[in-house]
Amino acid sequence: MNKRFLFSLACAASLLASCGGNEKPAATAGTDSTATKAPAATLPDTAAFKDVVDGQSTALYILRNKNVSAAITNYGARVVSLIVPDSKGVPTDVALGYDSIGKYLHQPETYFGAIVGRYGNRIAKGEFKLNGKTYTLAKNNGPNSLHGGKKGFGDVLWTGRQLDDHTVELSYLSKDGEEGYPGNLKVKVTYTLTDSNALKISYEATTDKATVLNLTNHTYFNLNGQGNGTINNHTLRLNAGQYTPVDSTLIPTGKIEAVANTPFDFRTPTAIGSRIDQDNIQLKYGKGYDHNFVVNRTAGDHGLTLAATVQGDQSGIVMNVLTEEPGIQFYGGNFMTGSNPLKNGKKDDYRGAFCLETQHYPDSPNQPSFPSTELKPGQTYHTTTVYQFSTK
Ligand code: BGC
Repeated sequence: MNKRFLFSLACAASLLASCGGNEKPAATAGTDSTATKAPAATLPDTAAFKDVVDGQSTALYILRNKNVSAAITNYGARVVSLIVPDSKGVPTDVALGYDSIGKYLHQPETYFGAIVGRYGNRIAKGEFKLNGKTYTLAKNNGPNSLHGGKKGFGDVLWTGRQLDDHTVELSYLSKDGEEGYPGNLKVKVTYTLTDSNALKISYEATTDKATVLNLTNHTYFNLNGQGNGTINNHTLRLNAGQYTPVDSTLIPTGKIEAVANTPFDFRTPTAIGSRIDQDNIQLKYGKGYDHNFVVNRTAGDHGLTLAATVQGDQSGIVMNVLTEEPGIQFYGGNFMTGSNPLKNGKKDDYRGAFCLETQHYPDSPNQPSFPSTELKPGQTYHTTTVYQFSTK
C-alpha cells in the first residue's frame, strides 16, 4: 500500500477535516461575539419554491445538522443554498443560487447548483458512436453539446423524497431518446448532510439499453459567501499531476499532460488568480481555468479520494472535495457576467464563483483512451462525491 493510498483512505474513512492541513472542524455558528459580524446567511423561503412546472409540483427540501444547513429543490435536483459557519462562526452561504423557482426558470444562468446530465461537460460536435450506431445531440455550446443538451437533467423535474432531516433522495426517469441519448435511464441522486459538516452526493443509475452517462453537480461556490467578490484570491490545491488540454472549443485534444511547470500546477495550495493572466494557450482557450484535471490515483483505485481543497481568503472556510470519479473540472467563472440576481440581492459577477465538477473526462464517448462512460443494461452506475467543510 503506498502512502498516497493510505492518505486517501484516511481522508475518506473519516470524511473529516484535516486532509489538506491543520483545519479546525467548522466553528459552531455564532460563538464569537467580539468579531466583526458579516450578515448571517439565512435559508430561502420554501414558499417561493412551491409551483407547478411541467405538470409536477416543485419544492424546497431543507437539510440540517448541528452547524450546517442546505436547501435542495427538485427542479434540476439543485443545491439552492449551502450555509456553513466561517472562522468567526458566522453562517455563510457558499453556494450561488436564486431565491425563487421563477428565477430558476427564467434567468439566463441555468446551471446554478444543478445536477447536470445525461452527459455532464462537452461532447464534440454533438455526436458519438456506440456499438456502431451514431447518436446525434443538440449543439448548445458552439459546435458542441454541453451538460446534456437543450433540456438537461438540471432543467427537469425530479421526484423528491425527504428521508430525514439530513437526507433527500431525488429520482428521475430519462426516457429512451431524450435529448438524443439511447436507453430508458433511471437515475437517483441522494444528498446527505453528514455530522462531519459534509454534503455527500450519491448517484445511482440503471439503463435498459447501452448508453453513455456522466453525472455531476454544478454548484457555483464562493467560500467568502455568494456574491462576495472575486474567487481569484481563494487558494486551491488540486490532487492532480495531469490534466486534459483542450482545443479552442474546449474539447480535449486526447492528450494527457503533466501540470508541472504550467499555470495548471495546483499541487501545492496556490491563489487561483496568481497565474491566470500568463501567456498560455490553454488559459486563452478557457478564458481562464475551465479544464479537466486527472485525479491522482494508483491503478485500479476507484475509491473516495481527496481531489481538491479550497480556502476562502476572507472567511477562512475550507472545502475538501472527495470523489470516486477519475476527473474534476475546475471552472473559474470566466463566463459569468453579473446578469443574474443572487439570493442576497447581490449579482453573479465575473469570476465571482468557481465550480469543481467531479466527473469522467469531457468527450469520453469519442476518446477511446479515456476511462469509459458507457453504461450497459444489467450494470448499476454508482458514484459518490463529498464536499466537506471546516475553517482555518
Ligand atoms: C463549463 C464551462 C461552462 C459552464 C456553464 C462548466 O462546466 O466547463 O465552460 O461555461 O459549465 O456554467
